[in-house]
Amino acid sequence: MGKKAREILEKRGMKVDELIKKLNRAYADEWLAYIQYWTGAQVAEGLMRPNIEAEMMEHANEELGHAKKVCDRIIELGGTPILDPKDYFKQTNCGYDVPKNFSTKALLKQNIDAERCAIAVYNDIVEYARKGGDTVTFHIARSIMQDEMEHEQDLEDLLTDITVK
Ligand SMILES: [Fe+2]
Ligand SMILES: [Fe+2]
Ligand SMILES: [Fe+2]
Repeated sequence: MGKKAREILEKRGMKVDELIKKLNRAYADEWLAYIQYWTGAQVAEGLMRPNIEAEMMEHANEELGHAKKVCDRIIELGGTPILDPKDYFKQTNCGYDVPKNFSTKALLKQNIDAERCAIAVYNDIVEYARKGGDTVTFHIARSIMQDEMEHEQDLEDLLTDITVK
């Protein structure tokens, strides 16, 4: 699978196995982000709960969409996506922040931190792909990074709305 894609990149000097490792770590992050948003949305309570719950569910679904895009690219490059969810915790960059305080404010803060981490992860992949001449991964990572920036902004706006009088 993906033999030609790999061949072209290796000729350009890209370390494809290293790129696959980075993509798999991002893939783990996406699943954990999905679960964190989804779980947070279920238990959220307090100010503007309906709005914040809806936004969190929307972001959860978008993280799942990112997982799919990253997974497809891993396979195209001849790699195998992480198969065992236990490995999400071993390979994640951004981790999983267990929602212990269910207030909308605390949940927003947790997810803002996760988004900031995701932006840094994709920034790194964008740079790595650019240097290695992998325009396909470059565009995928760039577009996901843009979504993560939008997520961060949406949450910051909600946090402002419930904080500012
Ligand atoms: Fe994501
Ligand atoms: Fe996100
Ligand atoms: Fe949003």
